[in-house]
Amino acid sequence: MNFGGLWAVKDVDFFIGTGEVVGLIGPNGSGKTTFLNIISGLYRATDGVVTLQGEDITGLRPFEIFKKGVARTYQSSRLCWDLSVADNILMGLHTKQKASFLDVLFRPKKANDEIYGYLQECMDVLSCFNPALFNRRYDLARDIPHIDRRRVEISRALVGRPALLLLDEPTAGLNDEETAQMMGDIRKIKEKIKDICIIIIEHDMKVMERVTERVVVFNAGRKIAEGAYRDVIRDKNVIGAYLGGGLHG
Ligand SMILES: Nc1ncnc2c1ncn2[C@@H]1O[C@H](COP(=O)(O)OP(=O)(O)OP(=O)(O)O)[C@@H](O)[C@H]1O
Ligand SMILES: [Mg+2]
Repeated sequence: MNFGGLWAVKDVDFFIGTGEVVGLIGPNGSGKTTFLNIISGLYRATDGVVTLQGEDITGLRPFEIFKKGVARTYQSSRLCWDLSVADNILMGLHTKQKASFLDVLFRPKKANDEIYGYLQECMDVLSCFNPALFNRRYDLARDIPHIDRRRVEISRALVGRPALLLLDEPTAGLNDEETAQMMGDIRKIKEKIKDICIIIIEHDMKVMERVTERVVVFNAGRKIAEGAYRDVIRDKNVIGAYLGGGLHG
């Protein structure tokens, strides 16, 4: 991905297999978010190919890639503050809606049944992911704590049953105790949805150690290391990239 002469991501070869959780780390500005933006179709890569389950998805638009099974969360919260928890999650299913405008007008029962079916799916995800939050399902997004907003965003991404989930710094802004809770939630996703694969960007090294099977390290847009967390943090290229930056093992 080239932005006006600057390669934000270059020559990256990245693979994730079914059921895997891969961590993506790297100093600020190393191209991590850009990489997720390429996969999810927000950016059209200058060069290169993205394949999902063998299918070339390069250049598809974000909603098309979402329909093919790639869902994501963002580094900064993107919820509708004046909608309830339930409605925010329901948005994760809007591309699946079959009822047309005419159905809503002339066949309201059909349209309603469909929406209630989706609402049930949302509540199933929310209650298995976080039962306490289920009890707050009709609260407005603006009235719930920061960690719960993060959970709602992850639930919204999960409700469409994606094959690949992209999490961009899910613990940003959380304190140590909340970070530990979020790690538990992510591990729960992995246990409950066996065939999902997750790419997680994180600055918190404890999260990387506990939730990932493999870590990929970016520096200045390039992949400089890959492997198990304990090996990667000892890699001299990785230590060099973080010098003065703060790699906290
Ligand atoms: N839309 C854009 N236009 C121009 N430059 C961009 C754009 N998006 C990202 N960049 C640049 O690409 C580089 C990588 O940015 P990116 O946001 O991917 O880094 P990051 O690894 O996610 O950093 P952080 O840890 O701070 O979130 C940076 O130099 C950034 O300024
Ligand atoms: Mg980023």
